[in-house]
Amino acid sequence: MLSWRIQGTEAQIGFGALLAGLLVDGLVIYLEGDLGAGKTTLVRGLLRGLGHAGTVRSPTYSLLEDYRLADRSIHHLDLYRLADPEELEYLGIRDICDGRSILLVEWPDKGRGVLPVADLVLRIRHAGVARILELVPGSKGGEYLADRLSALALPAGVTRQSNNVD
Ligand SMILES: Nc1ncnc2c1ncn2[C@@H]1O[C@H](COP(=O)(O)OP(=O)(O)OP(=O)(O)O)[C@@H](O)[C@H]1O
Ligand SMILES: [Mg+2]
Repeated sequence: MLSWRIQGTEAQIGFGALLAGLLVDGLVIYLEGDLGAGKTTLVRGLLRGLGHAGTVRSPTYSLLEDYRLADRSIHHLDLYRLADPEELEYLGIRDICDGRSILLVEWPDKGRGVLPVADLVLRIRHAGVARILELVPGSKGGEYLADRLSALALPAGVTRQSNNVD
């Protein structure tokens, strides 16, 4: 399994921006981790990497924020406040899952059964003041992305963890 130690908010954003360069249409990414793990911060980096210059609001209350960047649709979901996966229907989940849009989903467990399966699961956990991020591919596309990511130079504050550390 691939994992990294990410020291500080700027490094988290830098790692998101690195990932952004590897995204392809239709990718579904789950962001798992406790409250305050750094999921939204990673999305900020991803969107910045895709060219978004504005602010990135946490979809804590809206549940969904949409972005259109360089002809690409990106949907950022935070399902923490979802009481039932069926509520995703009201959010227009069917329209969102058009096979071309990119989905970034915080608290995906809350949408199990209705959400599409993940191409990539990013698990983030606290490690003192830093974070550990684990990447688990869920599809061939996810595996391909993981291979390419592991070959890239890392931003400042990010170090690769050896495989046997968990
Ligand atoms: N790698 C990191 N090292 C240190 N601090 C970080 C790191 N990544 C994010 N943070 C900080 O952690 C805090 C929480 O981040 P964030 O809001 O992204 O968490 P979250 O996982 O989205 O939480 P929630 O589940 O509440 O949506 C922020 O203050 C952010 O700056
Ligand atoms: Mg968040």
